[in-house]
Amino acid sequence: MEVPKIKVLDEKDKILRTVSKTVIFPLSDKDKKLIYDSIKFLELSQDEEIAKKCHLRPGMGLAFVQMGIPKRIFVIANKDEDSNKFETHIIINPEIIAQSEELVYVGEGEGCLSVNRYVEGIVPRHARVTVKYNDIDGNEHTIRVREEIAVAFQHEIDHLNGILFVDRIDKNNPFKDKDKMREL
Ligand code: NI
Repeated sequence: MEVPKIKVLDEKDKILRTVSKTVIFPLSDKDKKLIYDSIKFLELSQDEEIAKKCHLRPGMGLAFVQMGIPKRIFVIANKDEDSNKFETHIIINPEIIAQSEELVYVGEGEGCLSVNRYVEGIVPRHARVTVKYNDIDGNEHTIRVREEIAVAFQHEIDHLNGILFVDRIDKNNPFKDKDKMREL
């Protein structure tokens, strides 16, 4: 299987700090191709054998800005461990319109394909968020996501605003308020 040629930029790249631009429809064929290539890339990165062979880090989400294109687009591919099938999302111009009060954090730490180092600490996220977005054809939808997928949505929306997960960790007290949140 051919892995799409995708270069993910490292956090040192300043473009990751920019606020991505709202997408105008229709999308170009180039952007559509990049959307489907990114999903394929994420899916293959979660295949242990392929990842090892092609030196890929496993990732479940990717924002366009991480590939040097500051447009408000991200994709998610999350493998369901029971069925081995992927839940995929193509999200354009997202906007969080509601969020749970309950906060959660990923116990083993959040990862990012642009952050090539281990960063200790807690990233507080809402356990559930409702997001308004456009699909690949520009149609408007609303989706309510929870748990790991909700964390992934918030992580990717942060990318569109120039924010990295490491920014959300308290530098002086990386495990601050741990007991006030539920661990995922
Ligand atoms: Ni990331």
